[in-house]
Amino acid sequence: MKKIVSGIRPTGSLHLGNYFGALQNFIRLQQLDDADCYFFVADYHSLTTHPHPDDIRGNVKKIIVDYLAAGLDPERVTLYVQSDVPEVIELYLFLNMNAYVGELERCASFKDKVRQNPNNVNAGLLTYPTLMAADILLHHADFVPVGKDQMTHLEMTRSFGNRFNRIYGVDYFKEPQAFNFNNEPIKIPGLNGSTKMGKSEGEGNAIFLDDEPAVLKKKVMRAVTDGGPTQPNQPKPQAIENLFQLMRVVSAPETLAFFEEKWNDMSIRYGDMKKQLAEDMETFVAPIRERIHQFESDDAYIDRVIRQGAEKSRVGARQTVQDVREIVGFRRMD
Ligand code: TYM
Repeated sequence: MKKIVSGIRPTGSLHLGNYFGALQNFIRLQQLDDADCYFFVADYHSLTTHPHPDDIRGNVKKIIVDYLAAGLDPERVTLYVQSDVPEVIELYLFLNMNAYVGELERCASFKDKVRQNPNNVNAGLLTYPTLMAADILLHHADFVPVGKDQMTHLEMTRSFGNRFNRIYGVDYFKEPQAFNFNNEPIKIPGLNGSTKMGKSEGEGNAIFLDDEPAVLKKKVMRAVTDGGPTQPNQPKPQAIENLFQLMRVVSAPETLAFFEEKWNDMSIRYGDMKKQLAEDMETFVAPIRERIHQFESDDAYIDRVIRQGAEKSRVGARQTVQDVREIVGFRRMD
């Protein structure tokens, strides 16, 4: 059995970047008989931005709903909320003792956050990668399906695990690898010319799985473009390349080929391309959105899923933490 672990922060609805970077792989992995999957809502991680308690509750539920609506089956995978498995915090503490401030400060995502929010550089933000390593090592993951933006965090996870093994002279933690069915980790671009679709990348940048048709269409029709190609076969500027990349994930290959040809012979009309892209996105999102609305109103079911996931996840988590306690010289408590 291969262990698979991944999580998503509860900071709002999921978008197409989350879907194609992560969720799509979760769904395909759950179908494999030799994969033991743990997918969670990373609510401890979301505390770095000090959300209001009401927002946390709502957002955690939202991610569980999105997971289910996208097709995750709680009978096939362990679907849980990170804070329901507090064992991860004990592992986080042990890992933090051998994580150095210098390496944490050099982490690109930390530097980005400091730049974006210079008034909220808290210790949780600095040690974000150790908590993420604890999530992954807690379940001895072989594979971690994530988007390209998480590669540095995975590298740090391997380095923390290896360091632990070396310090204590054990062969306890494995080296988890990133995973994507299409081989290379991907980054889905935004609609506003940005190379990354993200929740905090500006208005109109992201298409959410629960966007209503009119909202979705409006965002796509407003996507950034330019004056059009001036020479045949010319390289595409970023904003235009973004539209093609989005088309690559939601549209049929013939549709993509059609607009590629139009770009190359300079007869492309961005309005037509966006209309087609909006239609293809709507076709993709519509069934998921419908299921989101169904699950949203079923609090009793969501609650059951969350409780069952916590129980399943804690079995292995307790084992890991007890092993680690023993390795570092503490008493086992099981
Ligand atoms: P988060 O919540 O920012 O994103 C969740 C997942 O979506 C992927 N993703 C993207 N992939 C491609 N293109 C995009 N534009 C795009 N935007 C987001 C992310 O790569 C990620 O896979 N630190 C993590 C959460 C986490 C975690 C973990 C993940 C906590 N512990 C343990 C794996 C294992 C994060 O903030 O993801």
